[in-house]
Amino acid sequence: MAAQTTPPKRLILAQPIATPDDRECLGERAVLRQLGPDAVMMIGDNPALAKMPNRPTLLDFFRHRFGKITCNHLLQSATLARKAGQNEKLVLACLLHDIANGVLIRADHGYWGAQLIAPYVDEEISWAVQHHQALRFFPDPAVNYDYPAAYVKFFGPDYVVPDYLQKAYDAARRHRWYMSARTITLYDLYAFEDDVDIAFEEFEDVIGRHFRQPEEGLGFDNSPVAHMWRTMIWPNNFL
Ligand SMILES: [Fe+2]
Ligand SMILES: [Fe+2]
Repeated sequence: MAAQTTPPKRLILAQPIATPDDRECLGERAVLRQLGPDAVMMIGDNPALAKMPNRPTLLDFFRHRFGKITCNHLLQSATLARKAGQNEKLVLACLLHDIANGVLIRADHGYWGAQLIAPYVDEEISWAVQHHQALRFFPDPAVNYDYPAAYVKFFGPDYVVPDYLQKAYDAARRHRWYMSARTITLYDLYAFEDDVDIAFEEFEDVIGRHFRQPEEGLGFDNSPVAHMWRTMIWPNNFL
């Protein structure tokens, strides 16, 4: 007589992005009925992702969570800023400017990125990260910054930024840290080379001096943004 085997439980991954109405909940109930009693929901470490250390550092997120394209872009951007002799705070701003796109969320990435780092960096750095999003859409001939050709391709030649970004730009233009945010856009523009390999460790010193790494690890320091880092650790948790 053949040995009886227990069929493996089916692991269900939650969708990280909610729909604007409750269709997802209704759909979810229908799916649960179809899945039957053996289905289990994703919670905790997703076996498909690299396991994060218990006290993750910023570099752990670079190594294990940010995608290769994001890592290359950030490392190249920071390298260009450093080679141009920018100060360390701005090198770090370039290194961090697109971290929200890495794993968390693309829409309004400058705002999300700024919020993620605000408790751990000087205010000027998070301010610059937030405002680089708006500044990317506005040329500045004084520093040879043109409207990105890629944006014409991505959004069409007639795209007009929404009012909130126009206002953010207007306010930034008058702000004392305008050039900090503008600096990010200068090194952002050319930082998409594919064949450049830069080690994360090259920026360990800058991170060490300008990023206040919490002792408990990012995600576990009870800061107002800890949940955002945890979401990157466990992006598919059902709840
Ligand atoms: Fe960006
Ligand atoms: Fe960027």
